[in-house]
Amino acid sequence: VRELGVAIIGGGFMGQAHSLAYAVAPISAELGATVRRAVLVDNDPAVAESAAARLGWDEWATDWREVIGRDDIDIVDICTPPQLHEEIALAAIAAGKHVFCEKPITNLSAEARVMVDAAREAGVVTQVGFNYRHTPAVAFARRLLDEGRLGVPLQFRGTYLQETGFYNTDPNRWRARKSTGGSGASGDIGSHVVDVSEYLLGDIVRVSALLRSKAAGADSGWRDDGERVGEDLIDDGGAWICEFASGAIGTFAASSYASGRKNRLFFELDASRGAVEFDWNSREEFRVSYVDEDSDHRGFRTVHTNTEHPDGWWRLAGLGMGYVEVSAIQFQKFVRAIVQGDDAMRPTFVHALHVQQVMDAVAESARTGSWVDVPRSEQA
Ligand SMILES: NC(=O)c1ccc[n+]([C@@H]2O[C@H](COP(=O)([O-])OP(=O)(O)OC[C@H]3O[C@@H](n4cnc5c(N)ncnc54)[C@H](O)[C@@H]3O)[C@@H](O)[C@H]2O)c1
Repeated sequence: VRELGVAIIGGGFMGQAHSLAYAVAPISAELGATVRRAVLVDNDPAVAESAAARLGWDEWATDWREVIGRDDIDIVDICTPPQLHEEIALAAIAAGKHVFCEKPITNLSAEARVMVDAAREAGVVTQVGFNYRHTPAVAFARRLLDEGRLGVPLQFRGTYLQETGFYNTDPNRWRARKSTGGSGASGDIGSHVVDVSEYLLGDIVRVSALLRSKAAGADSGWRDDGERVGEDLIDDGGAWICEFASGAIGTFAASSYASGRKNRLFFELDASRGAVEFDWNSREEFRVSYVDEDSDHRGFRTVHTNTEHPDGWWRLAGLGMGYVEVSAIQFQKFVRAIVQGDDAMRPTFVHALHVQQVMDAVAESARTGSWVDVPRSEQA
């Protein structure tokens, strides 16, 4: 069995999530490879040393440039703030490594474009951390669509809401400013729900958006939008409508000022033969309604996923599926793609480029007040 050595760059929140997932992924399914947590890199030596020891990495380092070309490294996993993603990914690709990169792939689609071209030229396997699409219930929605059981998609309504804006008030955290890599509520969390929508319905082709930054203080609302644009502030909330290439309609909202919502990715999809509803906070449950039911049975039914559904882990439903399990599923797909070839359900750099093109169009539409077209994705 082949052993894949990983160098992870960034030992913060996602560094921890990925470390846990790498530990679980190869022992919970047959992948044709084992995964060695070889080196954890963080430019803060105290973080690097303690995270590596706690999270089971063989070594730690502070300079990714000294690590990514090593012969015992097969995968470079980028968990840094987004403005470093392009530089690290291009160096890893140039060294012939497979690259897993956290989302957003970068904060600019022009950079993502360069990353896609480099990876294609080098023939390495890529994936971006759009983890929520791997939730068994979301994969089940995709299967119902592929099998024609939901008919033709008509309308997708997706939201991603958090209350973090009220409580994470440190202006020095990197997410707080565009200059340090912050992509706002739209790019940071809204991009996840855009990925889920494109996974289910295909390309978004045009958008019209409003984005807003919140003024400081408990009794303040949104800032004047000219201030957001002029000072290049991150957005704290926004909404956009869109059209899919299929003709389906989409509406989206993202906010980090949504009291009571801890981490709520929610969508509903109406189609010609039925509808589905998904809420990450009840992620084992999948709600589905079929048009073609006897009149006394019409309505939503709740299905517990995790057993016969794609990526299900357990032969017993109802055991629970958490953030780490879903993250492990994404690495199982990544490792299988390296060892056995692709399964087409993964968010590669090509998919992430398109999500970033949508997010760029959202930002442009919010600035100009006009509809903005999005180029067609390359896999379409
Ligand atoms: N998919 C998800 O569910 C999810 C959730 C949270 C964050 N993310 C993404 O993951 C990425 C990281 O976010 P996070 O929450 O882990 O941030 P974080 O601030 O918790 O961790 C980032 C780490 O990178 C380190 N770092 C910064 N510059 C570095 C450099 N030059 N070399 C090596 N290390 C460096 C920092 O010291 C820090 O420890 C971002 O792109 C973010 O959008 C994804």
